[in-house]
Parts: sequence; structure tokens; C-alpha cells
Amino acid sequence: PLSVVRAVADLRAVVGDWKRQGLKVALVPTMGALHEGHLTLVREAGRRADRVVASNFVNPTQFAAHEDLGRYPRRQEEDARLLAGAGCDLMFAPTVEEMYPDSFATSVVVAGPALELEGAFRPAMFGGVALVVSKLFNQVQPDVAVFGEKDYQQLMVIRRFTRDLDLPVDIVGAPTQRDGWGLALSSRNAYLSEAELEIARRLNGVLAEAGVMAASGRPLAEVEKTAQEALLAAGFDRVDYVAVRRADDLAPFEGDVADAPGRILAAAWLGQTRLIDNMAV
Ligand code: PAJ
Repeated sequence: PLSVVRAVADLRAVVGDWKRQGLKVALVPTMGALHEGHLTLVREAGRRADRVVASNFVNPTQFAAHEDLGRYPRRQEEDARLLAGAGCDLMFAPTVEEMYPDSFATSVVVAGPALELEGAFRPAMFGGVALVVSKLFNQVQPDVAVFGEKDYQQLMVIRRFTRDLDLPVDIVGAPTQRDGWGLALSSRNAYLSEAELEIARRLNGVLAEAGVMAASGRPLAEVEKTAQEALLAAGFDRVDYVAVRRADDLAPFEGDVADAPGRILAAAWLGQTRLIDNMAV
């Protein structure tokens, strides 16, 4: 049975009980509007721990003023039903005031893997993610936390500040879940019209082809340009970036050839909707 908890004090009471019993605790942070991608993280968490906490909080500090905070989908009752079905024990769904009381004055700043790609186009985001995830780690005190490779750069940023701040949490990455056409599942896919959905489904194919070009030794600038053009030809309205980077730290390859494990990452717009995806090269 799933408990739903909104106050940090109540959360601490439940998790404290589990810890006194010697149980291992996993955390899956989410912003709700859950889909099968989130639920695979919950199941993975269940394989790695005795109790699973999922947080459900649309975190205002990671949205810029012009972004989609206001229209981000919220459906916590349905989320609770899905979490119960996936074996989650506790849904932590705090209010904004619980997370960020009036006099809140602290920030967490990450450089390194947070600076480019998403960090260049959404400068507020990784600071907000690092802040809320460090707070969740302190609130829940999980042994392990599971994140999706769907947000590959976010996973790298979380690994980095967890290490840098000596947070005693084991960070686990889980593979991207896709629909039958290869489109990465995302809460933001709900924004897409039928016509946009069809275009969105070309994103992973374009990245896969570009990944093959990169692996065959073509200059990465040429690979990235070809993929950008292919996305525009497929019907995307705008491409923020397509980039082949080193998989371990997201730094550019020296010499412009992918000669070590790489990752191809992209962000592109369909109307008002911004989609991201990535895959191994
Ligand atoms: P959200 O977008 O809700 O995603 C929560 C977790 O689910 C993240 O770890 C994300 O990578 C993972 N996820 C999303 N779609 C996925 C898919 N198709 N396959 C596998 N995993 C997927 O990411 C956030 O929320 C927030 O930034 C958060 C970390 C909760 C901080 O607010």
C-alpha cells in the first residue's frame, strides 16, 4: 500500500522507522505526470532496495520565467495509482511552501558538465535541479537514487554534485523508455498535436543515423550539421543543438573524431514544445 506524504517531518518519521529496521531505501525523484519511463525507474529502485520513495514535485526553481511551469501537467491522484502498481511504498508530494519557505536563501551551483548544451539554453535549470535533488537527498536520506538516461546531462550533473558534496547516495542510471516508434517517453509529449507527434517520432532515428556517421570516423562538426539539417527537414521548427560529446563528462572530443565512448545529444522545438533525446555512440 502506498502512503502519500506532504510534510518533511512526516517523511522523516516513516523513513526513520524503516532505517531503524535496517531496511535499504531508494529514491526516485520526479515531477509527476508519470509514464512508463518513470515506472521503470521505480521498478529498478525496487530491485535495489527494500523500500522505494518517489517524490512528486514540479520544482519551480528549475524553470525560467518564460518556460512551461504554469502548464506543466499535474495529476497526482493518477500518479499515486501508478506508483502503487509499480511497487512504490511512499509518494512524497510536498507543497512549494514546504520546499521553499518564504525566507529561502540558498543555491547550489554546478559548473563542469552543467555549463554547455542544456545549461547554455536553459541557464536556470541545473541550479534548480541540483538544489531540489540535494534537498530531497537530505530529506529522504536514501541509500540509492535512480535517474533516467533520457535526461543524460542531468544524470551527469547529479553524479558530479553528489560526488563533489560527498552525499552518501549511490546514483543509478536507467535506460530511456521509448514508444513503439522510438520516441522517448516524456511528460511533455502530452503537449504535442497528432501532426507534431509524427515529426517528434523522427528524432531518435536522426540521432541513430548521426551516431553511425560519428562512429565511422566522420568529423563531428559535419555529423552535427547533417543531423541538424535532417531534423529541420523532418519538420522540427528549430534545433537548439545536436552534439556528439564524450560520454563520461560531456566534454567535446579533441581532434573532432569520436575515439572513445560518446553520446549524441539533441534538443529541438516543435511549436511551443521543446524535446530532448540522446543515445550512446
Ligand atoms: P521528470 O522529468 O519527471 O523525470 C523524472 C525522472 O524520470 C528523471 O530521472 C528522468 O530522466 C526520468 N525519465 C523521464 N522520461 C524517461 C524515459 N522515457 N525513460 C527513462 N527515464 C525517464 O527530471 C526531472 O523530472 C526533474 O529534473 C527532477 C530530477 C525530478 C528534479 O526536479
